Amino acid sequence: MLIRTKNASDPKSFEITSETDYWSRRRWLKAAGFMGLGLAASAHVPALAKAGASDQWQTMLQRKLAASEDWPGSTDEKLTPYEDVTTYNNFYEFGTGKDDPEQNSKDFQVDPWRVEIAGAARNTGRFTLEDIFRPHALEDRVYRFRCVEAWSMVVPWVGFPLGELLKRFEPTSSARYVRFETLVDPERFPAQRLGRSTISWPYVEGLRMDEAMHPLTLMVVGVYGKTLLPQNGAPLRLMVPWKYGFKSIKSIVKIEFVEQPPKTTWQQLAPSEYGFYANVNPEVDHPRWSQARERRLPNSFWDPNWIPTRKFNGYEEQVAALYNDMNLEKYY
Ligand code: MTE
Repeated sequence: MLIRTKNASDPKSFEITSETDYWSRRRWLKAAGFMGLGLAASAHVPALAKAGASDQWQTMLQRKLAASEDWPGSTDEKLTPYEDVTTYNNFYEFGTGKDDPEQNSKDFQVDPWRVEIAGAARNTGRFTLEDIFRPHALEDRVYRFRCVEAWSMVVPWVGFPLGELLKRFEPTSSARYVRFETLVDPERFPAQRLGRSTISWPYVEGLRMDEAMHPLTLMVVGVYGKTLLPQNGAPLRLMVPWKYGFKSIKSIVKIEFVEQPPKTTWQQLAPSEYGFYANVNPEVDHPRWSQARERRLPNSFWDPNWIPTRKFNGYEEQVAALYNDMNLEKYY
């Protein structure tokens, strides 16, 4: 994972909703009853909008986005602009540069998309996005988001608790961990066409069952009130706000209930640098850099905007009990 600093002179888009008035405008639109009428949908450049079999889940998702509720636990820290959230990305399937995901995902088609549920559960199989989304009301949650590379953002995600989804598949007592996989499709992901890629696809992540069921763990379907763009992990990705960003796997196609801790992508690549737990921890440095502070985006070379990193990314009160008897230096 390389670090690149954004320049102050990088171009700014004038087409996006300004984050400063995002919330007030959104509240006004909702109050006026406009958001269900396609206004929100038309504001989004839809890599998702393709006629055909997909229409039903897309319509359903737009309706749910319009009806989403503000989550009371949101941080009131200043939002990272939409432009940074959608152009400064890590998504190695599209390339390793921070702007590769935005540049190389313009033609990415979400359809067809199925999510396979497998392993130790009573209800397994392949599900459409409609199946996945149907019973869930969406929430707008503003979370701090801290990458292991020591940069961070504040992002208004839209989603629903992962635990509520997992319960529907009735995991059995052998389900001690949850394993997630990203799509493998060299047609859609250019980096998967390269013979010399260091990652052996699919990108894999995992959580302990109690982490997966924790109410902060979010299945994300949108950002800034709109459907996810491909570079942010469309059509659905994880968000585990107290862990380093690499745990928040994108473009999920498989969820498996397993008995043993799954071998995750970054653990396989560099086990001494990236652990299974990956809890944000200013007291445990990465072998090559300090984790005591982070660059809060937006920033620039001249103004890196360093701020102190908080244990569990500031969610200590909610999650520290999950790790009561664990040595966090050993289980990094
Ligand atoms: N998921 C997949 N499938 N592939 C990736 O390369 N990168 C991870 C995570 N999820 C990654 C992924 C890393 S390192 C980070 S920091 C976050 O996605 C970045 O999320 P963002 O680009 O939406 O900010």
